[in-house]
Amino acid sequence: MPELIERISEKCDSSFYVFDVSELKKRIKFLREHLPPYAELCYAVKANPFISKEIENDVERFEICSPGEADICKTIGIDSKKMVISGIYKTPSVIEAMVSDESFKGIFTVESLRQYDLLCGLADKYDKTLEVLPRLTNDSQFGMDEADIEKIISERHNRSRLNIVGIQYFSGTQKTSLKKFRREIEYLSGFLAKLRESCSFEARELEYGTGFPVSYFTGDKLDENALLSGFSEILDELPQKPRIILELGRSIAASCGKYYTHIVDIKQNKGQHYALTDGGMHHIVYYGQYMAMKQPFVSVVGRDNAGADKQWTICGSLCSMNDILVKQISLPDLETGDILCFENAGAYCMTEGISLLLSRDLPAIYLVRENGDLYRIREPFETKQINTPVYEKL
Ligand SMILES: Cc1ncc(COP(=O)(O)O)c(C=O)c1O
Repeated sequence: MPELIERISEKCDSSFYVFDVSELKKRIKFLREHLPPYAELCYAVKANPFISKEIENDVERFEICSPGEADICKTIGIDSKKMVISGIYKTPSVIEAMVSDESFKGIFTVESLRQYDLLCGLADKYDKTLEVLPRLTNDSQFGMDEADIEKIISERHNRSRLNIVGIQYFSGTQKTSLKKFRREIEYLSGFLAKLRESCSFEARELEYGTGFPVSYFTGDKLDENALLSGFSEILDELPQKPRIILELGRSIAASCGKYYTHIVDIKQNKGQHYALTDGGMHHIVYYGQYMAMKQPFVSVVGRDNAGADKQWTICGSLCSMNDILVKQISLPDLETGDILCFENAGAYCMTEGISLLLSRDLPAIYLVRENGDLYRIREPFETKQINTPVYEKL
């Protein structure tokens, strides 16, 4: 067994995640090398809040979408100058606390005319200039129509405490089509040109959530080098370039994380080999893998997969027939006590599970720094408290 996993196993007898900072930094370097030099990076904290601090100096910005994420970033000491406060609903009291805080220097996205009014009101109340990025909709509940953005921009001289720095746009995730990227970039370029002509407005920034894909499953066909170089060529063709900030979550975080779970029982039911783990779908969920429709990259720690010929269905510990992590995967003969490793689990996997069903604990989280130092950054977390009634007579 690798020394690191042995060290963790001595302290932790249940499932755990490990985030590897060397891998994370290598990934950011790879992205920078394969994207145009002028493209900056914004990390969407939702993908994995636990690694944000580690990349404080490796990305230009952090996208924060909820009061919880804002608190986490404050607690770990992310510089507010690097924050873009996004989010379809911006809790007024939380936004007011930010605006009233002298030291807060973040940017706000504007997702609706109501949010625009909220920010205008707070800027007036606290006599403060706020930098804002109106968010252009992608035909969803997010952002605003072009006409609403044009209205805000054309009236910008009347609301001079809001400094409109550019546009934000996010259109989806796991995108693999260069045709789609071309369509989007041409659309954005056209919209910026329209703002130039109709409102004499020159955007200084375009913050663009590209939704670059991650290959999670065996059989995925992704030529990432070709995708990124094709994307870069399209971006290069933009006739006039504002500051371009690419807002990425999973593409930055996925590869740095692995999930480990122990085999706790083995059985054969109706000819099918089942291995039961102490984890489950409350710990790990892969994008698009509902009911184990696809196979993530899984191995048995310290064992060779070569020549594995038995087909296993790996299940979690929830009393739910949906709790299947992998179906019919070829693995060596499994025994209780074996540890399974799930790869590419650094983004969303550990937060998108149905954590509260069955009131089981959430896994511990470990982090390995580049110098090999190992940290536990979250103990196993009990959820039973959340599901226990507390009677308060009113
Ligand atoms: C505004 C915004 N930016 C960035 C992201 C990150 O997406 P991804 O993790 O696919 O890069 C999201 C994801 O929902 C988002 O809503």
